[in-house]
Amino acid sequence: MDKLLIRGGCRLEGEVLISGSKNAALPLMAASLLTGDALRLGNVPDLRDIQTMVHLLRGLGVVMEQPTPGTWRMSAEGPITAVAPYEIVKQMRASILVLGPLLARFGEARVSLPGGCAIGSRPVDQHIKGLEAMGAEVVVEGGYVHARMAGRLQGARVLFDMATVGGTENIMMAATLADGETLIENAAREPEIVDLAVLLRSMGAEIDGAGSDTIRIRGVEQLHGALHQVVPDRIETGSYLIAAAMTQGDVTCRATRPDLLEAVLLKLEEAGCQVDRGTDWIRLQMDERPKAVSFRTQPYPAFPTDMQAQFMALDAVAEGTGTITETIFENRFMHVQELNRLGARIAVDGHTAIVRGTGHLDGAPVIATDLRASMSLVLAGLVARGQTLIDRIYHIDRGYERIEAKLQRLGADVRRVAK
Ligand code: EPU
Repeated sequence: MDKLLIRGGCRLEGEVLISGSKNAALPLMAASLLTGDALRLGNVPDLRDIQTMVHLLRGLGVVMEQPTPGTWRMSAEGPITAVAPYEIVKQMRASILVLGPLLARFGEARVSLPGGCAIGSRPVDQHIKGLEAMGAEVVVEGGYVHARMAGRLQGARVLFDMATVGGTENIMMAATLADGETLIENAAREPEIVDLAVLLRSMGAEIDGAGSDTIRIRGVEQLHGALHQVVPDRIETGSYLIAAAMTQGDVTCRATRPDLLEAVLLKLEEAGCQVDRGTDWIRLQMDERPKAVSFRTQPYPAFPTDMQAQFMALDAVAEGTGTITETIFENRFMHVQELNRLGARIAVDGHTAIVRGTGHLDGAPVIATDLRASMSLVLAGLVARGQTLIDRIYHIDRGYERIEAKLQRLGADVRRVAK
């Protein structure tokens, strides 16, 4: 199994090209099931989760072709098997995103129920509630969600109990082919939802309000093919900016979208960083030890849970004490113990972590537990004295494209070792 070996102490400097967003690309790919025409996506990152989605869609019968790196052409023209098996869903919870499109177009879907995962129990009750509101009969049997609908789904009012990103995406996709109008209330407002709405509209869907907490979708007879570029990855962007802040470096992220990162950029400025931005770039310069920052994770546009672990690494070496409260997932502090193995001083009390900054961390072997937790270990390793060996980096490969190449280009001493 591959590991990442990092020798800390290098100042990061230069430019990094940001990839397309994983969390935007996954629902966009699932949307290919909504039409028999070809869908072409560009700026698709080369990641393990994308490969898992390719594998899932191929298994369903979608013809998946990759004309050039970063580009996928997908066509759900032929016969489709509406079953997403456990073997794939257990690798990637986002597999649940095929549920809405399959049901809307084929009247039936069987998707394995995702179990709990490293960051929490993560139920899909809201997805099911929404589809039931649209008239579907949904049962859970043998570990599978089995949804059926005789005829077309019916437009409905769907009021979510919490702002769920995947739930909003599933219902939005299902509603595009429903009879009549669907109103999603307490919808998630993440940029990935806006990107999905942009694609669906270019496929012929009628959607208003994506990016606000109320989304209105008027169902149409059928959708057609489209061409779409995946939005840049705001979490990858934020992660490289933190790497620059922690190493007191000077890094410019290119091909990104500063407007999608406001809460993160404000926190970096609060930490003492100089942040400059243009329409598609962000430059971060830092020439002193960062100041600790405190925050609560919240749905977009507030501070994202997917940046919590990385900011914890920053606080670990900052001046002062930061208080971090995780409100989205109940168990997203798995990185705390590993960061403490590197010499961080983090105490957890329920959903809150108190991080007392220390002047230096010491390299050690550590284990990656989930995607963003892994990145926090990479960041800590970049500033730790000596050598940090990160095990189970397949978690990183789920969401950070060519991480060691990008970091090396910025001057980091990082390499992948197969052991
Ligand atoms: N929830 C329910 N019931 C549901 C759906 C969600 O209780 O039916 C709860 C979840 O357990 C969680 C909260 O609602 O406590 C929010 O979950 P959400 O549905 O918004 O998350 P998701 O769609 O499963 C996406 C991202 C995550 C990101 C979250 C929150 C994708 C593929 N995944 O997950 O990304 O953390 O939104 O922003 O888009 C990551 O990239 O590392 C990652 C975990």
